[in-house]
Amino acid sequence: MAREISTVGVVGLGTMGAGIAEVLARSGLDVVAVELDAAGVARGLGHLRHSTARAVAGGKLTDAGQTALLGRIRCGTSLSELSEVDLVIEAIPESLAAKAEVFARLDEITGADVVFASNTSSLSITEIGVHTARPGKVVGMHFFNPAPVLELVEVVRTVVTEPEVVEEVVAFARRLGKAPVVMGDRAGFIANALLFGYLNHAVRMYEQRYATREDLDAAMRYGCGYPMGPLALLDLIGLDTAQEILDTMYHQSRNRLHAPAPLLKQMITAGRLGRKSGRGFYAYESPDSPVVV
Ligand code: 3HC
Repeated sequence: MAREISTVGVVGLGTMGAGIAEVLARSGLDVVAVELDAAGVARGLGHLRHSTARAVAGGKLTDAGQTALLGRIRCGTSLSELSEVDLVIEAIPESLAAKAEVFARLDEITGADVVFASNTSSLSITEIGVHTARPGKVVGMHFFNPAPVLELVEVVRTVVTEPEVVEEVVAFARRLGKAPVVMGDRAGFIANALLFGYLNHAVRMYEQRYATREDLDAAMRYGCGYPMGPLALLDLIGLDTAQEILDTMYHQSRNRLHAPAPLLKQMITAGRLGRKSGRGFYAYESPDSPVVV
């Protein structure tokens, strides 16, 4: 019998982790969120306050609702705080060693039937799973940025994930108001495998001065109905994250579509990571502000 999920542990309160914590709390769940240190917690709480204030300003949430939502999220800096959770969603930076260490510690802290979900976008769920004592209870649960807005959750099963665990996670994603899809463990899963060839192609066009950034983006927005053009979307995703995802897919498939455009690397070296660093293909006053230049 599946465990009733009422408290969820979130490890990592960066953009994705904070977004996921918000989605969970919005659905009435209690959340225990763990970051490395007090500065990480403060940054995560900043994301949460900002994002929920936006919902209040848009009339989607009352002041009292915002207070209640934030009140359901307890933050800490030690994984031992997760001893009573019913599910763990990990959203730390993309390092297999770091994720393996987190899950190895959680193996000792959480109940043996607790499912471990990783929000990784570029690492193999199978490799993460084999570093735990419960590979049958390890799945991918890949949210999209911004997590409070986008409905897709990719549920990634490995060859050893128990079928009931996949069913439970799919049902749980639906309970969060999300639209889950299920797939095997291959770099890029479904959405990134299709999306990143297109984004990379746009960088190559821009690099070759084929068109301006504005015209490249306008073509896809106004011609194809995409909510954002490819260069603006890369700024939202983060150029470093995009390069990591492309690299992983390229190493797995050797498909030239996924060989990262040289300009990406140059921009990353120059510190132009996108919205989070204030400048990518465009400039921003803050990660949420509109384009300045
Ligand atoms: N957090 C919370 N809410 C947000 C938000 C955020 N970061 N950004 C936007 N919103 C909300 C706004 O409050 C607004 O809500 P409302 O309708 O209730 O008022 C709604 O989203 C629409 O926002 P805006 O009116 O400001 O702007 P847009 O209509 O242009 O929407 C967008 C912004 C949702 C970001 C939209 O442009 C979009 O969907 N862009 C594409 C994003 C995308 O493709 N993401 C996937 C990236 S790939 C990925 O994440 C995978 C990973 O592995 C890299």
